[in-house]
Amino acid sequence: MKLSKAKFIVKAGGQIRGKLRVPGDKSISHRAVMFGALASGDTKVTGLLEGEDVLATVSAFRAMGVQINGPKNGYLEIKGVGLNGLSAPNQALDMGNSGTAMRLLSGIMAGQNFNSTLTGDESLNKRPMSRVAEPLATMGAMINTEDKGRPPMVITGSQQLTGINYTLPVASAQVKSALLLAGLYAEGKTSITEPAPTRDHTERMLRGFGYGVDSDYPKISLTGGGKLTACDIDVPADISSAAFFIVAATIAKDSEIVLEHVGINPTRIGILNILILMGADIQIQNKREVGGEPVADIHVRSAKLKGIEIPEDQVPLAIDEFPVIFIAAACAEGLTTLSGAEELRVKESDRIAAMAVGLKILGVDVQEKTDGIIIRGGPYGGGKVDSVSDHRIAMAFAIAGLRASGQIEIDNCANVATSFPNFVTLARNCGLTIESVS
Ligand code: S3P
Repeated sequence: MKLSKAKFIVKAGGQIRGKLRVPGDKSISHRAVMFGALASGDTKVTGLLEGEDVLATVSAFRAMGVQINGPKNGYLEIKGVGLNGLSAPNQALDMGNSGTAMRLLSGIMAGQNFNSTLTGDESLNKRPMSRVAEPLATMGAMINTEDKGRPPMVITGSQQLTGINYTLPVASAQVKSALLLAGLYAEGKTSITEPAPTRDHTERMLRGFGYGVDSDYPKISLTGGGKLTACDIDVPADISSAAFFIVAATIAKDSEIVLEHVGINPTRIGILNILILMGADIQIQNKREVGGEPVADIHVRSAKLKGIEIPEDQVPLAIDEFPVIFIAAACAEGLTTLSGAEELRVKESDRIAAMAVGLKILGVDVQEKTDGIIIRGGPYGGGKVDSVSDHRIAMAFAIAGLRASGQIEIDNCANVATSFPNFVTLARNCGLTIESVS
């Protein structure tokens, strides 16, 4: 049963040491389940993230008649039904806390010959869906949302979709992916132009499943009517989860850690680029390619950080890592300024507001901006903060404990299970004094 009130208690200080593999990449895990379900043949996945978000995607495809065995220890077998083999679910598909699941699935559902409803938890049901519903409607999809484009999304099937040529108003891999997935069902060509590079796992995985995708940056195109052919997928460890330990080993004294088999796709390494600009000691070792995605071991040692102006071109490449980057900034000398990051306000929570409130409680000098934040690094204390049920806010404040002068208590941490179910265990194993209480 989910403990909605789970709380983390983190003792001040600590040293980070060890070698660890964090769970599988969330973005790649969702896509592996979706593409495996829509492929012809059996797809075998290893390294899958068994977090609640991905399990919501697994349940949705089971509800549409796909036989899926597992996951067990990261292993999942999907008996693909082909692009047109899904069957109507007999109730609304509940995507839990996952924006990725809802947005990508909306593109798939728009192309089905049955009706469906996509809903989610309290946080997801507040998030903007017009960014997918509107361009999907121009492709011919019929989608109703609540007021201001909020879920549930009610999708009427049996619409003939037609390819579009669309320029994304925000740099969003979720919107790009939803449109490419609808494009599989559309007549003709679907072309998406990006305002800035965003994670390209959809394009890479489509090619892995034998589907032609033309990437001529900033334009990505595919033509409907093809088929996906099952393949095996080895999911690398999630750089977004590794990020907590990269910052931990950087800010804690006399620390050194190796994070194994981490995905270092160039569209995901903003966290590394930003920390290196701040003075972090990060070495990328054993670079290799696994199933179309670059992977490496990341070796991190303690370092003295300095505040920087975060380059705006890094924002989409580090979009999920800002909560923990703000903790690094709080430990750096001088000012760190983030701009051009208004998207952070529509993630699992308003991450600018939630982090600003928590950092102020710890005594950090923070100034909120509409599109970012200004943080002055320096010593800070302990206190009681609220993660507002956002997994990444909860984990970021846990890492903050390493440099706090007092204990940090973090409320509403149950959603850590959406992306990083064994966070507390791994954090304890490598030196954080953390306890999870209900
Ligand atoms: C994701 C894309 C990002 C990211 C999310 C996962 C994906 O969202 O924040 O956690 O898997 O495509 P946007 O593309 O909306 O920025």
